[in-house]
Amino acid sequence: MSLRERMRLIRRPDLSDTQGSIDIGSMREEDREDVVKFLEFCNGLSQFVLERNIAQQEEGKRSIFVARDGFKIVGRVDLLFNEDRDRNPLIKNLDVLRPYRRKGIGTSLVSRCIDAARDRNCEAIEIDAKVNNSEAIRIYQKLGFKIVCINGFFRMGDSEFRMLREL
Ligand SMILES: CC(C)(COP(=O)(O)OP(=O)(O)OC[C@H]1O[C@@H](n2cnc3c(N)ncnc32)[C@H](O)[C@@H]1OP(=O)(O)O)[C@@H](O)C(=O)NCCC(=O)NCCS
Repeated sequence: MSLRERMRLIRRPDLSDTQGSIDIGSMREEDREDVVKFLEFCNGLSQFVLERNIAQQEEGKRSIFVARDGFKIVGRVDLLFNEDRDRNPLIKNLDVLRPYRRKGIGTSLVSRCIDAARDRNCEAIEIDAKVNNSEAIRIYQKLGFKIVCINGFFRMGDSEFRMLREL
């Protein structure tokens, strides 16, 4: 086998063939183990936090959406309705596995949140994005979010834009 052929096997395949089969939907009980595996690739989010998130989902205070490639979880986003956020939920924890990025999955996950907020008759939907996360900010702007304020002026890397989209 040539070196090039071996490299193709080692690297993840070009995912253009799987693009059509990515499914975006609510996280279900049977996804739990697969989401834990997904979290192993995401910075700082532990199974302990996931369990708290699932408990909030069961209380209707949070919706967790996942992107599935077959049985594998390749993306996640949460929509938070807690802390007086009934009318203006907050998007959190948007993450897509690196080999699956730039294929529209992040956009689809955020769109799913917008639809879910509309279904609950919310007035607006909000998101915080680090000021230097230009890729994420561009996605939100394309989906109609506008910057409304900036939080934390102390160190530029830590500052976040609060972005809002009316529904
Ligand atoms: C931010 C993040 C979620 C984006 O996910 P993604 O799945 O790559 O997002 P999308 O594919 O929908 O869009 C990203 C870019 O790919 C482009 N794209 C979408 N489909 C594409 C395709 N088929 N081919 C090429 N490019 C494509 C989009 O137009 C967009 O480009 P642009 O920014 O130049 O407009 C991902 O980079 C990530 O997980 N980052 C780390 C965690 C993070 O920063 N989360 C956000 C916290 S606020």
